[in-house]
Amino acid sequence: MNKEEFNKEWEKFELECRSCSRCALRDNATNTVIYRGGRNAPLMIVGEAPGANEDQEGKPFVGRSGQLLQSLLASYGFSDEDYHICNICKCRPPQNRRPEPSEIMACKRLLAMQFKLVRPKVILLCGSTAYEGFFGQKVKMGDVRGKFIESNGYYIMTTFHPAYALRDPKHNIPIFEDRGKVRQKLEQLGCLPPLENIN
Ligand code: URA
Repeated sequence: MNKEEFNKEWEKFELECRSCSRCALRDNATNTVIYRGGRNAPLMIVGEAPGANEDQEGKPFVGRSGQLLQSLLASYGFSDEDYHICNICKCRPPQNRRPEPSEIMACKRLLAMQFKLVRPKVILLCGSTAYEGFFGQKVKMGDVRGKFIESNGYYIMTTFHPAYALRDPKHNIPIFEDRGKVRQKLEQLGCLPPLENIN
């Protein structure tokens, strides 16, 4: 697909997202929150669902969790085009509750379209909702965090949600370590230059 075709496909995808009414979350949402970062990024970061700030701005991870996520990405030299940030659900659940399994299911088709367009090499799932939404099964974070799984040509890692580190700063350390492993994997795959070569 050339650039022009890709941009057309992307516009179609955004239109599908904004006109989706497969669950009731859209009814109370201000915006459909699709992504921020690059459209062809080697790293896709998947969170849970938009909160109040994200709903207002129409972009994922722009509140306190987002600031933490951003500082971790910056500390490993990621630029905006290196990552594509999105969520399991594109509309804000009322009172920031966890999305229901039926809402996650309803949004899955759009997320699958997003993966096909972005074609990341590495996927970072932030938190248990992202894991459960992606793999369709419940999990104990301690059992899966920080390890790569290779599936369908993707390298997938699960880590703590940044909100978890905001509640207890000791979780900053494993999240920081996991970002380092992600950076290393992208370098090994030839998607990013070695960090020491970045000024
Ligand atoms: N938490 C999420 O999981 N996603 C956001 O976009 C913001 C906060």
